[in-house]
Amino acid sequence: MEIRVADTALGRHRDDAVVLFVTQGERVRARVNSAGKAFRAGYQTLVNTKAFGGESGQLRVLTQSQDERLPHLLLVGLGKEKAVDGQSLRHAASSAARAARDLGCRGVTFVLPDGRGSAFRADNLAEALVEGTVQGMYRFETYKKKPSEDGIDQLTLLVGESDLKRARRGADEGRVLGEAVTFARQLGNEPGNTATPTFLAEEAARIAEENGLGLRVLEEADMRALGMGSLLGVSQGSSQPAKLIILTYEPKKRGKKRPETIAIVGKGLTFDTGGVSIKPSAKMEDMKFDMCGGAAVLGAMQAVAGLQVGVRVVGLVPASENMCGGNSYKPGDILKAMNGTTIEVRNTDAEGRLILADALAYATSKMRPKPKAIVDLATLTGACVVALGDGHAALVSNHDGLADELLDASQTSGDALWRMPINDGYRAQLDSPYADVSNLGSPGAGTLTAAAFLEKFTGKVPWAHLDIAGMAWTAKKSGYFSTGATGFGVRVIAKFLQARG
Ligand code: BES
Ligand code: ZN
Ligand code: ZN
Repeated sequence: MEIRVADTALGRHRDDAVVLFVTQGERVRARVNSAGKAFRAGYQTLVNTKAFGGESGQLRVLTQSQDERLPHLLLVGLGKEKAVDGQSLRHAASSAARAARDLGCRGVTFVLPDGRGSAFRADNLAEALVEGTVQGMYRFETYKKKPSEDGIDQLTLLVGESDLKRARRGADEGRVLGEAVTFARQLGNEPGNTATPTFLAEEAARIAEENGLGLRVLEEADMRALGMGSLLGVSQGSSQPAKLIILTYEPKKRGKKRPETIAIVGKGLTFDTGGVSIKPSAKMEDMKFDMCGGAAVLGAMQAVAGLQVGVRVVGLVPASENMCGGNSYKPGDILKAMNGTTIEVRNTDAEGRLILADALAYATSKMRPKPKAIVDLATLTGACVVALGDGHAALVSNHDGLADELLDASQTSGDALWRMPINDGYRAQLDSPYADVSNLGSPGAGTLTAAAFLEKFTGKVPWAHLDIAGMAWTAKKSGYFSTGATGFGVRVIAKFLQARG
């Protein structure tokens, strides 16, 4: 999709469709008139009959002769002016673009709406509208014999001349974020027989090449040499070799000060059968999404390169399958992680924390320069889905400052986070009579004991964990989502890193 920002007057503009975003109670008669005199009566009727009042979620289409400058006019409600934010704009943009696509339009023009508050600044508007559109247009059709032929080829934002520069900057950011999210979605949607650890490493190599990122992939022999017995233990039942993908983004030099390093780590479990502690068959196919934390890290690395953030970012993705077979690890096995900690495996289905353990230990003890903070993302526990459903991802952190930064980024990005506690009570549940630690807590608070387990591998580095189990995919098309992977995490991480430098 090509994205343009122009200051053409609406009265002279040509496109397949034009969209007016309208806040509740706002009258846009002048704009409707500029779009085409033939729309006037229809608009008046919609307003008079209260069929359109700018309420959030409302969408009405007026159509005139196809020979006119602007054949279709779409009126899209934004709801109360005060309540408009990035999230409502993204959803509105997505439904507008989907409606235009359903009308057969190849091009669509958005007129930037008016309003008070920071959401209505031209850069913020452009960013949210473009990001929402890019997300809303994504479809996973890789395996369809006949992919859809309809689609929006060109999105134009119409702005006042004084806003051109700001809107262009916002539109660029929106495109970068939207494309990074759809890249992560695509990886998530790929089935387990395509999206193997090797495939993730190849995709990492592709984005490294395209975005000028550094890449190192640790193979199983490297892991053995480093003593990564935890990651290797999970992977040993699979015929697909495990990989530890390490991408590095270096910011352009700004002054003399060396930029700080932030590490992000994502669970790249490309299929989770549960292993010997096997999962029930129902919905097991969803476990192809168990690499969505890793996909979010790869997407975020693409985004930070596109946004040119000011900090150095290292993205790590431990990638493995969790299979049951003659060589699988078993309940009761004791694994030794890279930091020397021995782990009693009480349940082979609690494997995410095991592959993350070695990646976290590597990032916090081996990497130079040492990261100033580390954030991990993982579809880690079913308990998180029970606690927060598809409303929020859980944020667990031992550092209040870092947690607050992530909550701020959550607000601006629309990736919703909810902080949950960590303390010695949860930590103590991981005691094992046979090893330094068990991979299973007592029943209850599974998300928090899983987080407490991860913490043991982070040394003294400020750390935050996002359990994205309820957010990583969706069963239904809604808002800017379509069925399947959501790309959750890419935006909150990108915004967090952007704010950091
Ligand atoms: N990948 C799952 C977590 C999961 C479950 C994500 C459902 C999304 C939806 C993880 O590896 C797992 O199986 N966790 C176990 C942990 C338990 C054995 C302590 C779980 O949540 O049941
Ligand atoms: Zn599992
Ligand atoms: Zn898992």
